[in-house]
Amino acid sequence: MINDQIRRPHSHSAALMGSNTKLILALLGLLITTATVATGYTNHTVGGDAGWFFHSKTNTSATNYTSWAANQTFSLGDYLIFRTTTNQTVIQTYNETTYRNCTTDDASDTDTFQYNGGNTDFDQSLTIEVPLTIEGANYYFSDAGDGVQCQRGMAFKILVRHGNGLPPSLNQPPPPPYVEAPSDPAQSPPVTINGESPSLNNKAAVGGANTGVMLCLLLFGVTSSLMTMMW
Ligand SMILES: *[C@@H]1O[C@H](CO)[C@@H](O)[C@H](O)[C@H]1NC(C)=O
Ligand SMILES: *[C@@H]1O[C@H](CO)[C@@H](O)[C@H](O)[C@H]1NC(C)=O
Ligand SMILES: *[C@@H]1O[C@H](CO)[C@@H](O)[C@H](O)[C@H]1NC(C)=O
Ligand SMILES: *[C@@H]1O[C@H](CO)[C@@H](O)[C@H](O)[C@H]1NC(C)=O
Ligand SMILES: *[C@@H]1O[C@H](CO)[C@@H](O)[C@H](O)[C@H]1NC(C)=O
Ligand SMILES: *[C@@H]1O[C@H](CO)[C@@H](O)[C@H](O)[C@H]1NC(C)=O
Ligand SMILES: *[C@@H]1O[C@H](CO)[C@@H](O)[C@H](O)[C@H]1NC(C)=O
Repeated sequence: MINDQIRRPHSHSAALMGSNTKLILALLGLLITTATVATGYTNHTVGGDAGWFFHSKTNTSATNYTSWAANQTFSLGDYLIFRTTTNQTVIQTYNETTYRNCTTDDASDTDTFQYNGGNTDFDQSLTIEVPLTIEGANYYFSDAGDGVQCQRGMAFKILVRHGNGLPPSLNQPPPPPYVEAPSDPAQSPPVTINGESPSLNNKAAVGGANTGVMLCLLLFGVTSSLMTMMW
């Protein structure tokens, strides 16, 4: 009799504890899933370890960029990271004609963008980050060397899938400035008046940080309210 009376509240409380623990685990699982989705974007280093390089002595690209691209899945919100130098350019176009022609001579600034920094010297290291913001076919090439680099392998096509869709930080990217290619890139290095769209990259970084802070606050809030419920 006495034992029963003592046990009952105890087992009741244990059952409550058990269900609370399950609830906490379920909520934590949900939060972790949300965090994975929120950061589920990939940075693709173009060419892998080979980077984005053209060997002017052998007249060849550092790797087969077509093969490299064929082995990846690209989605909205991913970035292409070009590890390169001022000897190469990064042209992004949505226009297949421009891509096949290996020049920006007749390109429209609504579908073709150049992503280089304003360096006037050769052999200066550059890292160029290109966000993928448009679904479907995206084309990339280097127009340095009067199109020779592009003709000799510095070009590739990717297909961008919807994936998770654009993160808020990239929802309305200002198009990077397009600058006419130098008339004789073999003699002068590629020059761009404006940088590689620093405001865009800053925005992306801030957006990422905000998401992290918000998730932490959310996690903290949920945990403390659960603690209150339990105790
Ligand atoms: C590289 O190839 C182009 C043709 O694609 C040719 O005009 C040029 O002379 C070659 N340069 C060297 C250094 O072999
Ligand atoms: C794709 O990647 C796999 C393994 O990562 C490799 O074995 C294969 O050769 C690659 N294919 C191409 C076309 O690069
Ligand atoms: C690059 O690889 C593709 C297949 O992935 C092949 O069709 C093409 O000929 C290769 N290019 C060179 C220059 O070897
Ligand atoms: C970069 O371009 C300059 C000028 O054409 C050339 O002298 C230099 O050798 C190039 N660097 C490489 C690594 O090919
Ligand atoms: C293709 O490039 C050449 C120069 O290499 C240029 O004269 C021609 O107008 C271009 N055509 C198109 C359709 O862009
Ligand atoms: C692609 O660019 C060329 C100029 O190089 C232009 O004539 C053509 O209309 C563009 N194509 C599309 C689909 O916008
Ligand atoms: C991918 O690159 C962007 C642009 O530099 C950066 O903001 C982001 O943190 C990178 N993401 C990862 C997972 O490295």
